[in-house]
Amino acid sequence: MFSKEVYMSRRKKLKEEIKNGIILVCGNELSPMNCEDNTYPFMQDSTFLYYFGLDRENLFGIIDVDNDKDYIFGNELTMDDIIWMGPQVTLKEQCESVGIENVHSLDELNEFMTNLQKEKKTVHYIPQYRHSLMIKMADWFKVSPNDINKNISENLCFAVANQRNIKTPEEIEEIEKAVNITRDMHLAAMKDIKPGMMEYEVDAILENISRSQNSGLSFPTICTINGQTLHNHYHGNKIKEGDLLLIDAGARIESGYCGDMTTTHPVSGKFTERQRDIYNLLISMFDKAEELIKPGITYLDVHLAVCKVLAKGMIERNILKGNPDEIVKNGVHALFMPHGLGHMMGLDVHDMENIGEPIVGYNGNKKSSQFGLSSLRLGRTLETGFVFTVEPGIYFIPELISKWKSENKFSEYINYDELEKYLDFGGMRYEGDYLVTENGNRRLGNKMPKYPDEIEAIREEAFK
Ligand code: GLY
Ligand code: MN
Ligand code: MN
Repeated sequence: MFSKEVYMSRRKKLKEEIKNGIILVCGNELSPMNCEDNTYPFMQDSTFLYYFGLDRENLFGIIDVDNDKDYIFGNELTMDDIIWMGPQVTLKEQCESVGIENVHSLDELNEFMTNLQKEKKTVHYIPQYRHSLMIKMADWFKVSPNDINKNISENLCFAVANQRNIKTPEEIEEIEKAVNITRDMHLAAMKDIKPGMMEYEVDAILENISRSQNSGLSFPTICTINGQTLHNHYHGNKIKEGDLLLIDAGARIESGYCGDMTTTHPVSGKFTERQRDIYNLLISMFDKAEELIKPGITYLDVHLAVCKVLAKGMIERNILKGNPDEIVKNGVHALFMPHGLGHMMGLDVHDMENIGEPIVGYNGNKKSSQFGLSSLRLGRTLETGFVFTVEPGIYFIPELISKWKSENKFSEYINYDELEKYLDFGGMRYEGDYLVTENGNRRLGNKMPKYPDEIEAIREEAFK
């Protein structure tokens, strides 16, 4: 948690942007897994955390722009709560620590909302994703829960996204802590993976490193010998000699900030010649992004430049043919990289995904619907203070290759005979986290192995 001045100044800035009305920021409730008292681990809503800093369930924040007053609505612990969960800092004290003097109960919130309706005040809110909250809001606003997300405030969405997209020095410090724990997770796995292990054993190593530094996970870990499946959450395979193990995992630290990294490991300790060749192409894509990232360029252009490196690389390997610009323009390369180059990162691993990519990642501009580009979460002009991932990948997805071949798709650009030699290759991705600086960029966190020799040198430790 930051000092109360940080939260007060964030709310003040938001008020200046919104100008009038009432801003409602819902905190999260506990969510049952299978019954009321057996809940998922609590995760606070990140917008609530950003403006109110309180990592406690069942709170609502109100920013009254018209009267320049901020409120928290929530209940103090009852004796029953204290018996079961132990004594805790009072809500009133917690609220003081984030600069809120107006603290009221949830019953009073119902009254407050009824009065707002009577006064016909505009209530601004961002899109909601928890159904229990949508039902509560529907009750206040006398609409169907299905209509809650039809009445969101676009102004508020833009204001929140534009404020949260620029990371301040104290946020960058937190993100960097998360990135360094993420790095420790990947390095521990890199030093430990051996043929014969199960994927879930590596998954456990990753989680253990994070948990032992008082941190959680920023998203469910991907740890798979089938890296060609982009978001593969199955961990039940045995890891064999010659396999590539793709790990995409990140830490979420106590303050809520996230890290996100992908590494691809040669299980035998050394890459095969073919694996090393494709891996080198992957890293040249990553390095191209790093070379280009600076304020003023669009991330769409960085993505396209990286795709051009991929297209050229595939032409050199006789898998593609023709002009790399045309290949990229037509989206042929998306056969090997169907996803985007990266996404904003902060209090959410895909930062503010609930507010929506068109606003967060495209500043209201339209996103392409072309296969591949349609999965690019970030396309907007880069500004100093943006933090996002760079995550090129190269995948040989047998089902997709076979579908395109059967349709004779892009056969003027694709040497299917050559490509089919790679059907058993799998997939690779390499991901790092970047800050846009005034003059360029900085990869966050301590140095991370990237080139094949660096990775193989660390992999040797697994076999000592
Ligand atoms: N964890 C998915 C991603 O890297 O975006
Ligand atoms: Mn990732
Ligand atoms: Mn990512």
